[in-house]
Amino acid sequence: MRNPVVARRLAISHACCRLHRINTTRSYAGLIHSNSHDAPHADRGPSIVVDKQGSAVHINGQIYSLDSWSNVTPGILAKTTRKLHLHPSHPISIIRSHIENHFATFKPFNNYHPVVTTRQNFDDLYIPVDHPSRNISDNYYINQTTMLRAHTSAHQLQGLRSGASKFLISGDVYRRDEIDASHYPVFHQMEGFQYFDMSVPSITADQVNADIAIQTPTIANKIHTFDDTVINVRNPIQSSHPIEAAMPVIAHLKHSLNSMVRMLFHDEPDLQVKWVDAYFPFTSPSWEMEVLYQGKWLELCGCGVVHQGIMNAAGLTDKIGWAFGFGLERLAMVLFDIPDIRLFWSQDPRFLDQFAGGKIFKFQPFSKYPPCIKDMSFWLGEEWNENNFCSVVREVAGDIVEDVKK
Ligand code: DAH
Repeated sequence: MRNPVVARRLAISHACCRLHRINTTRSYAGLIHSNSHDAPHADRGPSIVVDKQGSAVHINGQIYSLDSWSNVTPGILAKTTRKLHLHPSHPISIIRSHIENHFATFKPFNNYHPVVTTRQNFDDLYIPVDHPSRNISDNYYINQTTMLRAHTSAHQLQGLRSGASKFLISGDVYRRDEIDASHYPVFHQMEGFQYFDMSVPSITADQVNADIAIQTPTIANKIHTFDDTVINVRNPIQSSHPIEAAMPVIAHLKHSLNSMVRMLFHDEPDLQVKWVDAYFPFTSPSWEMEVLYQGKWLELCGCGVVHQGIMNAAGLTDKIGWAFGFGLERLAMVLFDIPDIRLFWSQDPRFLDQFAGGKIFKFQPFSKYPPCIKDMSFWLGEEWNENNFCSVVREVAGDIVEDVKK
């Protein structure tokens, strides 16, 4: 039977999608207009300009023509200049650098621009043309062939073509989504990638095992892993991969992620990790990794053995690789105890100044109102007491006054 909740959500998102397509030119026209007045988007960078006719957009020195697919809005484009993952004392960047330090021999790529082709975001990763992840209702398209990346996997081929055999890619990614405390149309992901020679499978196994041995060897004792995943026809080893090479690469991937999670959750004495079978068009076999945190299983990351077609496209026909990808906000919300994803975009010093040391520690909640301190002095009569004064304040200003101090 068709699930009525899903049916309703689909109907709503279609309606939204149509609205956006109609509104596109209007919102770009708004941007042209507002350029000559006060900017409504305080964080808009200088690199985004729309031409006078509203038929093209200039982003980061490139001109993109708009068409019936264009649904990106000025407010979203403005986010492309923020680069939260590169602000050293921002929680997103702190998590990024902890992971980069952990994978110290991996080459980090943190500066790939978020405007990518649909080929990079989908086709290069073997995502079928009719796959729902391509929906206009879920993505920010600049035009039919250009978009804001929906995941950092869009840069896997670029990473491979750089010549590095192990690398990390972090950046802002964009998805149209619902509005609540755990969803935001922009968030950050980190991609990890490592490949090995597979021309002589026994050598692959030796290389992999040697690499596992030099990674913190005590990790396995301090983590409880639940792994009843099975390699079968639904989640197979690729036909181009000798099983003697694929198995050690799989073990290496799981070991690398277990040890990364052990490092991140070092305060959790009894860390439990679960491996779950998954499907991604660009990996096989594929898994998701979950972590038990404060009594709940938290889906942390997707991963798998990279589709050999991707390796071949980079000219690496005799190499076998693994990859993983995960969201930095989800990790940061858990590790810093940050209750609302929108806080990451705050420019309030009461948020930003908490993280100046570059360490992971618990977030101290603060008022949702801007700070407004009023010092007052007055003559006191005989009858005065503090509660009388508070009664006056309450009558005048109501609950908006959070604190009265003597
Ligand atoms: N790109 C995927 C996403 O955004 C996550 C992912 C899954 C990345 C598997 C990978 C991977 O590199 O191998 O949902």
